[in-house]
Amino acid sequence: MLRGEKVILRPIEREDLKRLHELSANVELEMLAGGAWSPWSLAAVEKDFEKHLEEEDKSEFVIEADGKVIGTTELHRWKNRRAGTAGVGIGIYDPEYLGKGYGRDALRVLLDWAFRIQNYRRIWLDTLAKNERAVRCYLAVGFKQEGLLRQHEYHDGEYADVVTMGILREEWETQRA
Ligand SMILES: CC(C)(COP(=O)(O)OP(=O)(O)OC[C@H]1O[C@@H](n2cnc3c(N)ncnc32)[C@H](O)[C@@H]1OP(=O)(O)O)[C@@H](O)C(=O)NCCC(=O)NCCS
Repeated sequence: MLRGEKVILRPIEREDLKRLHELSANVELEMLAGGAWSPWSLAAVEKDFEKHLEEEDKSEFVIEADGKVIGTTELHRWKNRRAGTAGVGIGIYDPEYLGKGYGRDALRVLLDWAFRIQNYRRIWLDTLAKNERAVRCYLAVGFKQEGLLRQHEYHDGEYADVVTMGILREEWETQRA
């Protein structure tokens, strides 16, 4: 498992699914993380978990703090090994843990894994421009804003701008030196 100052990143276990399913009932947080919310049953979550068990290239973690699962983070499945790039996703779904530095700690651990252990060269993401908490968290760990996609998403009753952000290996190396 991977350790930060506040969090542990570890594989998702079957026993975590009930907790993750309970956390996913928070529609507002799910919409910020995924753009839309739809009714996934626990059985559907379990089936999806089973479906992905066979995949060799694992890159999804639960974020654990104080012995509790508080969210998830991953390098997305659409990684480009040839170019050395991968997208990152993260969600803290326990409201008690929002805005208290757990997100940035988890991202620092994930970036260390991505660059130092997995040898990626560039990590990127996109997020709603109005998701200020997310943008500030990403800036704090070293992502730079690279673009703005106007009215690119539909969120909470309106078309919303999306920010694209990225961090290169050399930038990550400089800031940890
Ligand atoms: C985005 C997310 C991972 C960030 O993790 P976090 O632990 O909440 O963030 P941190 O505490 O590390 O940093 C939050 C930053 O936003 C600020 N902030 C905290 N609450 C805020 C709020 N309600 N509105 C605006 N800014 C806020 C903090 O001051 C901090 O910025 P600073 O360092 O410049 O002061 C987390 O909030 C989350 O999962 N949110 C719900 C789902 C989501 O938005 N996912 C991301 C989709 S791309």
